[in-house]
Amino acid sequence: MHSSGDEILQMRAALEWYSAMGVDIALVDEPIDRFAAAAQPVKAPTKATHPANSASTNASRPPAEQSRLQPETHNVDEAKKIANAAQNLDALRAAMEQFDGCPLKHRATNLVFADGNPDAQIMLIGEAPGREEDMQGTPFVGSSGELLDRILASIGLDREQVFIANALPWRPPGNRNPTPAETAVCLPFLIRQIELVAPKVIITLGGAASKTLFETDMGILRLRGKWRELNVGAHSCVAMATLHPAYLLKQPAQKALVWRDVLSLKSKLAELN
Ligand code: URA
Repeated sequence: MHSSGDEILQMRAALEWYSAMGVDIALVDEPIDRFAAAAQPVKAPTKATHPANSASTNASRPPAEQSRLQPETHNVDEAKKIANAAQNLDALRAAMEQFDGCPLKHRATNLVFADGNPDAQIMLIGEAPGREEDMQGTPFVGSSGELLDRILASIGLDREQVFIANALPWRPPGNRNPTPAETAVCLPFLIRQIELVAPKVIITLGGAASKTLFETDMGILRLRGKWRELNVGAHSCVAMATLHPAYLLKQPAQKALVWRDVLSLKSKLAELN
């Protein structure tokens, strides 16, 4: 096909517009109208299971948006059922591959399950995969992952001594923030992952994962750097929030805070062993 100069300019403008809107990957050849699907009649409002999902917050929103923000109870129940039935990490991964209750899955290229050593004492929990992670199916392999590796190396750790997962195992399109509904439906899988790894120490990376696990709305700058007892499902351990490496890439001056946090991690490991 031969395109004129004008057509090329138009195509370039369209690509730039897609990119600005967060579209950075083509998944299928034909467009899918998700708005039409969302406009289908929705079930009666369901009870929210996550603190961030109070019905009163969402009641004034249009039905299609409500269904995007509120987890469908049957999907959360199904996630809990299949997550709790998994007796090991391989079974959990298989259950997540089968699960169709999180809309993010249908836009993602890969399930991003975990990386590192399942026998590690330390579990690191990020927010959600980015573009690189989605392409490779492995958490923290992009630029924030490189920084994470350097942070670990600063106290003599590498990926063989930690287990790395995310609060959400599928990439939100264009790296947008996950909705409370998406977070709630993925939470049973994270909880089960924590139970199966049973780490002595959990480090949450960034505000989103920290708020989810500590069940708080406190900002990350206040939350970080303090050890807390964390009870997740049937597992209890100590946990600390720290800043997300992606944030440090934008705010390098804040690396000093993370340096303090990793020194505190080093001391905590010495204390526990
Ligand atoms: N940010 C995250 O929170 N997780 C990843 O896996 C990559 C970037």
